Formats: sequence, structure tokens, C-alpha cells
Amino acid sequence: MVRDIHWFCLCLFDSRFQPRPVFSHESRNIMTTTLPDLLRRNPVMPVVTIADSARAVPLARALLAGGVSAIEVTLRTPAALEAIRRIAGEVPEMILGAGTVLAPQDGEAAAAAGAGFLVSPGLTGNLARAADEMGAPLLPGVATASEAMQAREWGFSFLKLFPAEAAGGKALLRSLSGPLPDLRFCPTGGIDAIGAPGYLALVNVVCVGGSWIATDAAIAGSDWVHITERAKGASALRTGTV
Ligand code: 3PG
Repeated sequence: MVRDIHWFCLCLFDSRFQPRPVFSHESRNIMTTTLPDLLRRNPVMPVVTIADSARAVPLARALLAGGVSAIEVTLRTPAALEAIRRIAGEVPEMILGAGTVLAPQDGEAAAAAGAGFLVSPGLTGNLARAADEMGAPLLPGVATASEAMQAREWGFSFLKLFPAEAAGGKALLRSLSGPLPDLRFCPTGGIDAIGAPGYLALVNVVCVGGSWIATDAAIAGSDWVHITERAKGASALRTGTV
């Protein structure tokens, strides 16, 4: 009985998940970019961890100068929300996501700070429901066929494969493309400039994520020239057919 009710509730909220535009929470203006569009925009989505919010704006500008127009700022430092706030306020052309969203309150805080989309390393029913209720686009993490099927049941067709290399990497993605041909992935975790092209050549990969473009050390050292150069290299990569 309890199981039946649980299943009924899941079905109810399944039907509400639809692709939605990325939103600018501060203004509540709906941008025209949807999650699939923003993932297709750049071959590489930098995953950045910002320890000092004073570096957030120069970092975003350095990435933009290299042709990168969408980033994931992880919620792993005390400075992360302030970093998101500053980028949203001062670099509005950057499409700004919050990563390491583990629970509904993380998503709420990130959206309130100005994040336009959310990225999570995994997916729970609570998080899926909260993102839907907030109207926040969510790129949820999966690492297995079962997790991908669960996410698919809940209406997610663009997924983060995480941790990509540890979970099976390109071989796993090739294997998933047979039974789950409608799903598209942004593999992240353990990928670098050398490995990225191999992932981008796969038919079910829309972009890759990674920290190699703006490493913690490069950000801490305000090494903006280096970050722009790496962003240019990443921007020049090409995706397969997606
Ligand atoms: C992460 O969440 O840490 C991202 O997946 C980045 O992983 P990477 O540092 O291995 O690129």
C-alpha cells in the first residue's frame, strides 16, 4: 500500500517535469536559453571552486575572453554563494550554474544568489521535486544505467555522468547509448584537455565538464591569462552529433 502511494506520487510529479528556460533569479527575468541549449553552447563547461569571492568576477571575465559562456560554480567553499552573487551582478553575460547542489536548500540558496541553473553529483526525489517547484533547470548526476533510468522516468534527458572516469568513462557512455539512445550526457570528473576530445566524439555527449580550465591553483594565483588560454583551447574543441 505504502509502495503504491509512493509510486502514485512519483508518477504525479513525473508528468510535471518539462525542459524550462534558464532563469535569472535576481531579476526573475526568464532568459531564452534552456538547459539543453546552454549545454550545447560550449563543448566544455568549466567547474570552478572559488575560495575568495574577490576573484569571482575576474575569473568569469577571463573565461568569457576565452569563449566560454557557461560555468558551474561549486558550492564547496564559504565564498561560493557570494561568488555567484558577484558574477550574476557584474558579468550577466555569463550563464551561471551552481554545482554540488546536494539538497533543496542548496538549490534555493544558489538561485537566490543568482544561479541560473543547478548541477548535482547525483539525484534524489527531494532534489528533483524541489528543482521542479523552484522552476530551476537541474543537470542531475548519474553513474549507472539504473540511475539514468530513474532520472529519465522523472523527465530528465540531459544528465551529468559523474564521476565520469571512475564510473566507466567512454566505455560506459557507449554502452548506455544502446538501450538509452534518447539521453544526452555531460561527463564530468577526471577529464582533462587530453581526454576531452574522446568524450566529445561520442554521439550521446553534449559537452564535458572539468576543473582543468580554471584549477584551484590558477584561480588562487589570479592567473587569468593562463585561464583564458585554456578556455580558448576548450572552446575550439568540437562535439560529435548530438
Ligand atoms: C567535480 O565535481 O569535482 C567536477 O566533476 C570536476 O572534476 P575534475 O576536477 O576531475 O575535473
